[in-house]
Formats: sequence, C-alpha cells, structure tokens
Amino acid sequence: MEYLGEQQLMAPSVRLCSHPLHFLIHFLLMISWTPAWTQRAARLQLTYKDLQLSNSSVIFLGSRNTSSFQTLLLDEDRGWLLAGAKNYIFLLRLDNLNDNPHKIYWPAAKDHVEHCKLAGKNEETECANFVRLLQHFNKTHVYACGTGAFHPLCTYIDLGRSTEKPVVHLIPHLLESGRGKCPFSPEESFTALLTTEGLYAGTSVDFMGTNAAIFRTTVQGRNQHYIRTEANQDNWLNDPQFIGSFSIPDTRSPDDDKIYLFFKEMAVESNQWDKRIFSRVARVCKNDVGGKRSLINRWTTFLKARLVCSVPGPNGMETYFDELEDIFLLETRDEQNPLIFGVFSASGSVFKGSAVCVYSMASIRAVFNGPFAHRESLDYRWVEYKGRIPYPRPGTCPSETYDPLHKSTQDFPDDVISFMRSHQLMWEVVYPLNRKPVFMKAGGPFLLKKLVVDRVDAEDGQYDVMYLGTDEGKILKVITIPKQDWSTEEIILEEISVFQKPSPIVNMEISTKRQLLYVSTVSELAQVSLHRCELYGKACADCCLARDPYCAWDGSLCTRYFPTNKRRARRQDVKHGDPRSQCHDLEEGFEAVEDKVMYGVEMNSTYLECIPRSHQAMLKWTVQHPRNDHVKEVKSDERFIHLEQGLLIRLLEKSDAGIYSCLAEENSFSHTLVRYHLRIIEQEYVGAQQSQVGGATGEMGRAIVNPPTLGQLQMFYKDYTQLKSISGMSADEYCDQLWYREKRKQKLRNFKWKQTVDNRKGRLRRHPGQERDGPAA
Ligand SMILES: *[C@@H]1O[C@H](CO)[C@@H](O)[C@H](O)[C@H]1NC(C)=O
Ligand SMILES: *[C@@H]1O[C@H](CO)[C@@H](O)[C@H](O)[C@H]1NC(C)=O
Ligand SMILES: *[C@@H]1O[C@H](CO)[C@@H](O)[C@H](O)[C@H]1NC(C)=O
Ligand SMILES: *[C@@H]1O[C@H](CO)[C@@H](O)[C@H](O)[C@H]1NC(C)=O
Repeated sequence: MEYLGEQQLMAPSVRLCSHPLHFLIHFLLMISWTPAWTQRAARLQLTYKDLQLSNSSVIFLGSRNTSSFQTLLLDEDRGWLLAGAKNYIFLLRLDNLNDNPHKIYWPAAKDHVEHCKLAGKNEETECANFVRLLQHFNKTHVYACGTGAFHPLCTYIDLGRSTEKPVVHLIPHLLESGRGKCPFSPEESFTALLTTEGLYAGTSVDFMGTNAAIFRTTVQGRNQHYIRTEANQDNWLNDPQFIGSFSIPDTRSPDDDKIYLFFKEMAVESNQWDKRIFSRVARVCKNDVGGKRSLINRWTTFLKARLVCSVPGPNGMETYFDELEDIFLLETRDEQNPLIFGVFSASGSVFKGSAVCVYSMASIRAVFNGPFAHRESLDYRWVEYKGRIPYPRPGTCPSETYDPLHKSTQDFPDDVISFMRSHQLMWEVVYPLNRKPVFMKAGGPFLLKKLVVDRVDAEDGQYDVMYLGTDEGKILKVITIPKQDWSTEEIILEEISVFQKPSPIVNMEISTKRQLLYVSTVSELAQVSLHRCELYGKACADCCLARDPYCAWDGSLCTRYFPTNKRRARRQDVKHGDPRSQCHDLEEGFEAVEDKVMYGVEMNSTYLECIPRSHQAMLKWTVQHPRNDHVKEVKSDERFIHLEQGLLIRLLEKSDAGIYSCLAEENSFSHTLVRYHLRIIEQEYVGAQQSQVGGATGEMGRAIVNPPTLGQLQMFYKDYTQLKSISGMSADEYCDQLWYREKRKQKLRNFKWKQTVDNRKGRLRRHPGQERDGPAA
C-alpha cells in the first residue's frame, strides 16, 4: 500500500508538446523538468553576495587550515559560541564571529594517529581529533569529547568566570576515555546529553562502528558506572543512526523524569524481505539503574515507538518520509510539553523529498501508554500484545512516593524485568499534529537536513518560523499559516545561500536573544540575521506583501516588528498579506514607477525587462498606443511572449509603438513596476545602416523572418535558453506560449515549403555556419 502511495505523488503530469521540432523541445524539457507536485517559489531568493551587501551575514574567517565544524555550543548569557572542529575548538563572540577569536589546539596523540593509519583509515579525514561533543558542565567548565583518531577522549575546557577576557584552556590531567560517550569516527551520526546523572549518548563503542548502543556513563567519576542497551539484539536497536536527545519531565514528580532519544534504524517490524528504515522516539527513566539479577547494567525502562511523518493521499494511501534527519525541541511555557519538530526525508529510488512534521508530547506519551508490540519468536510477525501486562507497568519509572516497594529499578519484580527483555517496541505509532507535515519539499533540487525554529509574536498572532538547512548550503525560512478550513498555507519567505560554495549544512544553532543563526558546513561557519526587513522594499505594500512576522511598516520603512511597543502606526498582515487593509495611501505606498524609453527595430525582436522583487509575483502587461486613450492588456501570442521577468516582442511592427506597463500581481493585488515608451525604427532605415556595419551578430533579438527557417528557429531556441537563465520560465510554459496546437499543422507545411524556397533563393540574412549551431551549442 505504502509504495503505491509513493508512486501516486511522484507521477508528473508533464504535457509534452509534440511539435515537429520536438527534439529541441525535448532538450529544453530535459533541462527544466519539474514534477507536478511543485510548490510556490521562495518569495525572496538571496545569494551569498546579497547577504554580504546587506550586512546580514558574517563568515568566520579564522577557519583556514581547519575543517569539520560539526559541533556548536551556544552560551547566550555570556555571549559565546564554541565551535568544535578538526583538532581545534574555537571560542567566538556571538555578536561577531571575527571579533578576536580564540582557539584551542587539541590534536590526537601521535601513536593513536599512527595506529589509525595502520588500520587503513584516511589520515586527513579520519585520523585526527574531530571534536564531536561540547556541553555545559558547570558555570566555568565545558565538557568536550573528540574522536582522537579512532580513540575517543573527553576532557574539560576552563572558560573562566570573566565574559570579557576568557582564559580558555584544556585541562589535560582530567582527560578520560570517551568510550560510550563519543563515536570513534567523524562520520557517524551521534547524540549526547550531559545531565547531573551522567552523560546519555547514542553512539557506537568500537572501531568498526557496528556495536551501537544508548549509554549513560558517569563523568569524572572514580567509580566508572555505566548502563546501556543490550548488545547485538535487534529488538533493542538495529543498526541505529542517532539524531537527538532531550531531557523532558513527564510529571511534577522528579522521579518521572525521562530522557527522550530520537533516531532511525532498520525496522524489525517491517516485512523481513523488504529492509526499511523507520524513525523512532525512545525513552528511558533518569533513575533507571538496571536490574538486580537480570538486566544488570542494562536499561529496564527502555521503550521505543515509530515516529511517522507521512502525507495522506486519496484512497487512504500514504507517502512516507521515513528517515529522520534532524530534530528540534521548541520550548513552550509548559516545561512538560515542548513541541517536537522533525525534518524527514524520503530517498527511495522513485521518490525523493523532505518534510517537516510536528509532534506533541501528549501524542508521544499516549503511544508509550498504549499496547506493546509482540513477536512469538523470530519466525513470527509482530502483532499487538494482548496478554497480561505485569505490575508495575513496564516503562514506568520507580517512585518511592508512588509505591514504597519500588524504590529503584533493582526492586522491580522478575516478571517486569523479563517482559522488558523482549518488549521494547510499542504497537501504536506516533502521528504528527493534524496527521500531516507542516512543510514539504518534493522533487526539488535539494533535500532538507537541519532545522531550528523560532516562535515569533506578530500583530495577528504567533508564528513558528522554521529555518531549514539544505544539502546545498541553503536555508529556507518558512512559515505555515492555518486557514479556516483546517488546511494550511506554506510560505517560503526567503531562500538564502549562506556560503559561496554549495555544501551540506551540518549544524545550525539559533540565538533568539541576538536574533542570529549560526550555520556550519564541513569547511565553513557563518552567522546570519534572522531578518533583513529593508530588503523587502521601500514601500508599505512591499513590506505587507512580504508576510514576514519579523517585519512591519513603521510609516516610512520596513523594519523589525516588536510586539511590545504598541504603536498604532505599525502595519503588518502575516495572515493575508493584503496591502489594501494596511497601507492607506496605496498610490504613494509604492516606489516611483520607472519610465524608460526603448527603441525597437521593425521586424527585429525586443525584450522589455521587468524583474519583480518577489518570486511569487505574476507579471501582467498593458499597452497604450499613441493617439489612443484605451489601455489594453497585452495578450500572449506568437509575437508577444510573456516571460517571468519580462516581455519578449518578436517581429516588431510599426503599430506596436506605445507605452507598455509592467504590473506585478501578488495576492490579488497589483501595482506597476516599470513603464516602457517603445518607439519603432523602420526597417529600411536599419537596412541601410546594416549594410555598412556588416550585419548584427547579437544572439538576442535577432531578426526572424516569418515563417522562420530551421536555422533561425534553432537560433531562436538558443536565444530562449539564454533568456531562460534570466527569466526562469519552464519549458512547458514556453511550449504553451509558443506553439498553439491549432496552428501546428499549418505551420509545419508553411515551414517546410518556405525553407526549400528560402534555401533555393539563398536569401538568408545570417552568417554562414550559424545554421549548424544546434541548441546544445
Ligand atoms: C555594512 O557595513 C559597512 C561597515 O560596517 C557599512 O559601511 C555599510 O554601509 C553597511 N551596509 C549596509 C547596507 O548596511
Ligand atoms: C595552513 O596550511 C598551510 C599548508 O597546508 C601552511 O603552509 C600554513 O602554515 C598553515 N597555516 C597555519 C596558520 O597553520
Ligand atoms: C567545574 O568543574 C570543574 C571540573 O570538575 C572544577 O574543576 C571546577 O571547580 C568546577 N567549577 C565550579 C564553579 O563548580
Ligand atoms: C535587433 O535588436 C538587437 C537588440 O535587441 C540588436 O543587437 C540587433 O542589432 C538588432 N538587429 C537588427 C537587424 O537591427
């Protein structure tokens, strides 16, 4: 069932235009194929350069000779960012990464590097100390672990007490083994959480990375105590990849405090012939100390459930996004009920895409309180467990106040312990809020890898602004707006290219206090502002159409919106983005319209450029001819070709002269962006000029004699491909506009006939050799 669903969503409905020149069209389709399930483009697309020019991003310059900025630790109170890299830990100012950075050199021991190389590992990318863990230990110290060239080690960094003049140094005599705390490999996915009871970590504990487990180890303890998941038992963990871990209280009683872990693994419960990966949420009690006679040093409260992120399709079929990529915990006022945001991917052979799902703690707890999954033996299928459940219910934390007989997990009766040996998996699955993703990106050129979320107060409510890091070094800034009929509207406010080189985003941290995002790839680290309101435009309507909860019109500029200052002048409408309701003086609400004079040559073509700031605006053109008051819309036909960023007029006629206005329509609101006064120069005049100059060689706007020859058509397609790079129009839209079905046959006839005549008469106004230029030239 699930697979059918996947196919249904990916099936593209591309209408192929079957023109005699279809090989050309096919070529164009190849380069700009888009599936049916597309989404509106990001309203604002910012390049690396745009960010730099607007001062809204700072690239950390001290990154030369270092790499792998895998681990970031924020200290909001003292204004520090710690960045763990290969052989280094950087201590940077949150306000400006390049302001007097400090670094600590922490290489792997020489003999470990040698041993690592002898074992066949790569010297550059594996046999070094990759810092994988940085966590606050106490007011002055940070706990740090690194791979130590496949020999993990942990220690403390003293940051001192002063915020102004830090004394950063490693404490070498406190170096301890990182086994069960930190992975051996820089590649392995990993999670860890330092608490007062010790360090919880999902990691492997061997050179091969095959023996992965969830550990709790003591830190800085003389008596090294640990507790873990059972090794080599598929029903506990089956080739897991760990994503995140959080401490979330379940009730007011500290006895109930649990650690929730998120990971993905090979699904034991899916069909054994079909190896699938499922995402999981698991939990253990903080006060679990293992069993007494059995399950010694093993979790006695470990439970896990499947985390589902899927899109319901028609006929009850679902498309599943099975692979968890990242998880973010959005704190709310209720400490027990944060919102859990997960970004998932589906990377099957037929369907690729990403989705963000949001889960409530209530739905996660309900599944852990529900039925257990059960398997009679290895040859049986997993079913719902319907037998007797021992007391206390497996998975409950021991609590003396609740039951004096069960002070500790070592007091659990034998039937509870033996039940826990084989019933880690819950039967029900955890569904997201509203049973569907809050955001989806399918068929796109990139996958989503990381996310952080900021809850923002706007004039018309609260919005959870999601920052989604892609595998191409971009960040999408997204909000979801609930509609009256339970549906939602997803808006990509911005698509930001943070770095010059596209490279997957490996880590992101958000400072809500400073309104900054810290973003790293393997080779770079940057800070990016959460908002740049001034880039939306210099008019009230521009600001309002942006629908950015961070920004509002203050009467003269688009600036940061603060909900606390209740000045009436602030205009913002995130829900509807309707300037009519917000901007009183619409005429003056926009920047002055640009007036341009254009000269076109009769029978030549001309391009009237009009680039809307918003990628969601649609362009409409009107024309007013001289000595005629009537303003009419320019309809598209073979001569007037509407492109996303302008109007192409082919084979200009004298009567085309006039005033052309470009209107941007967005959210059923339109305004004029630019006006062209088009004047036509007669052909004879140019002909005389041209014979002197020796003909035009420009690629764009070449004269095309009607009906065109094959060579000219090819040239025109070449024009189109160049044009496309600036206009972004898709090939099928182009087909629609250029080739009307009813005219096709007639055209073909004319075309062939005229071509033979033209060739015979040798009347081609082109350079020799141009005819051979194919579309791929
Ligand atoms: C960016 O910062 C530089 C130096 O601080 C300043 O000169 C420039 O005007 C700023 N640009 C913008 C767009 O704010
Ligand atoms: C960086 O590496 C280059 C060559 O790999 C070396 O010449 C240079 O001294 C290094 N710089 C620092 C600051 O380590
Ligand atoms: C923090 O922990 C370190 C390492 O155990 C210790 O040396 C230091 O005194 C502690 N600092 C405070 C303020 O507790
Ligand atoms: C046609 O227009 C383009 C610019 O739009 C110009 O470069 C070219 O010289 C013109 N061709 C003729 C024959 O005038």
